[in-house]
Amino acid sequence: MALKDYIRTIPDFPKPGILFRDVTSLFADAAGFELMLDSMVNALSGIRFDVIAGIDARGFIVGAALAGRLQKGFVPLRKEGKLPGSVIRVAYRLEYGEAVLEVHTGSFKKGMRVLLIDDLIATGGTAEAGVQLIKAQSADIAACAFVVDLPDLGGSARLQEAGHTVISLCS
Ligand code: PRP
Ligand code: ADE
Ligand code: MG
Repeated sequence: MALKDYIRTIPDFPKPGILFRDVTSLFADAAGFELMLDSMVNALSGIRFDVIAGIDARGFIVGAALAGRLQKGFVPLRKEGKLPGSVIRVAYRLEYGEAVLEVHTGSFKKGMRVLLIDDLIATGGTAEAGVQLIKAQSADIAACAFVVDLPDLGGSARLQEAGHTVISLCS
């Protein structure tokens, strides 16, 4: 089975008109999860990075599993109000709402190469907020990697136009 065959689509969630691509069905399947990790490791060959930053919440599942596989550290970019230390925050808009992402100050050292991971890119609002949190600490973005790209929503093109390497496993 191909990766996208593990992902179900639910119409009108969380709002009318949104076609929700549900990765929980991929995560729940052992063969699907393994295929996702193998494909991501393969797609990342040739990309040099020091640490993985994963975006709350679904990006934690992909990013932490990948960090375990590749023996890298994992930094959580969290929705607001969850991190106990001092934070940097960025407000952003996504396909069906708005939110705030935060990261602990001192999470990245100057010049560190950070791999940004999320499950999916749609408008790119979330990923761009992640990029800002990493850049605010003078670290570099090695690449931005997603399991799913929804290209019609323009996010991956926006990241590429901004000079980032964008990896996605299916669209
Ligand atoms: C979803 C998805 C991405 C984001 C993509 O997160 O996991 O993080 O939307 O949308 P965008 O490209 O338009 O910004 P969401 O915040 O809905 O939920 P989650 O906490 O389950 O990850
Ligand atoms: N995040 C933003 N847009 C989404 C969609 N269409 N399906 C699942 N997650 C999303
Ligand atoms: Mg998310």
